[in-house]
Amino acid sequence: MTNAEQQVEAARPLRAIIVEDTPDDAALLLRALRRAGFVPDYVRVQTEEELDQALRAGQWDVVLSDYTLPDFSGLIALHQVRAFDPDMPFIIISGNIGEDVAVAAMKAGAHDYIIKGNLTRLGAAIDRELRETEMRRARRSDEQALLHARLRLQALSNRMLEMQEAERRHIARELHDEIGQSLTAIKLNLEALARRLGDDKVRSLADEIAGVAGEVLDQVRRLSLDLRPPQLDDLGLRAALHWLVKRHSREGGPAIELEAPEDLPRLGTQAETACFRIAQEALTNVLRHSDAKTVRILLDAKDGHCSLEVRDDGRGFDLAAARAKALEGASLGLVGMNERVTLAGGEIRIASHVGEGTRLLARFPLPTDAAEGARA
Ligand SMILES: Nc1ncnc2c1ncn2[C@@H]1O[C@H](COP(=O)(O)OP(=O)(O)O)[C@@H](O)[C@H]1O
Ligand SMILES: [Mg+2]
Repeated sequence: MTNAEQQVEAARPLRAIIVEDTPDDAALLLRALRRAGFVPDYVRVQTEEELDQALRAGQWDVVLSDYTLPDFSGLIALHQVRAFDPDMPFIIISGNIGEDVAVAAMKAGAHDYIIKGNLTRLGAAIDRELRETEMRRARRSDEQALLHARLRLQALSNRMLEMQEAERRHIARELHDEIGQSLTAIKLNLEALARRLGDDKVRSLADEIAGVAGEVLDQVRRLSLDLRPPQLDDLGLRAALHWLVKRHSREGGPAIELEAPEDLPRLGTQAETACFRIAQEALTNVLRHSDAKTVRILLDAKDGHCSLEVRDDGRGFDLAAARAKALEGASLGLVGMNERVTLAGGEIRIASHVGEGTRLLARFPLPTDAAEGARA
């Protein structure tokens, strides 16, 4: 190393808070710092108030603290510094505290412990702490960024689901009320017209058109219900699930059973919608993939939670493989269920084994007023 390099090495400013009651000890400490190549810019404090003022007054690299002081203590200083900045390097520089006390101090968040009589290790200890603190701060800031990204994504996802439901509700109503009513009028008028027509050929044509209008009317009503059954808003989850079961029950298909207590409390729009959409997706999956003979949907509310279970005796599937495929964007059903449950503050568990059927269990916390109703 050349002299110039040593010079650069030597000129390392260090902003330090020194917690020390004895001026001589502070002087020894400063000498050790300078010898280790630091140019200390420091403040010496001896009480809680002084430390508090110092912490607020400036940017510091390190706190070097004595352990026992007449009006203060290294442990209190440590807690104070940690509350102010969880990453700030804190090194205890003390006479003879026992090993037990040193270990306790390290557990409380001190980074190192150096004995006053032997300060040769001080420079290396500070250097190491500065490096590690930089890493800790970088990690913390990465974690913060990740957390914020996750929260933003969650808010976005929440908003999108809300908008989707609002749009479905709107289109479903529009289809049912406006378009449905117009089609009904067309159909009735055509039937009335047909009755008045003398010419058989023309009458049968009018009948035929009335028939087509009737079919379109049925399709529009089904479409409207599929988008969002009004039961979900007007009567609640139990009624909506009853409709869902009826909608999917057909001869030759699996038996679909629903168990839901009659006095199920209203759970709030978000949880009810989430529950319904999960049941809908789960039932669609059973009908589409499982070849089951029986599906059971169990809904219950107790102990402050609402639980939804969908169980089939079909072929089952490899959940890990399905999840891996979902991550590639192959399917959205399982992903969507997870998302809905998480946003409603609940949790979901799926258990499936090839040849042994599938069981899905979703649990949501009830809103407090509904929870009281459910407990009663
Ligand atoms: N109840 C079930 N029984 C058998 N297989 C299922 C069941 N539910 C889901 N699966 C399997 O998991 C896969 C992923 O489901 P999902 O994410 O809903 O996507 P999609 O239904 O669009 O294929 C399905 O393709 C199917 O192979
Ligand atoms: Mg699906």
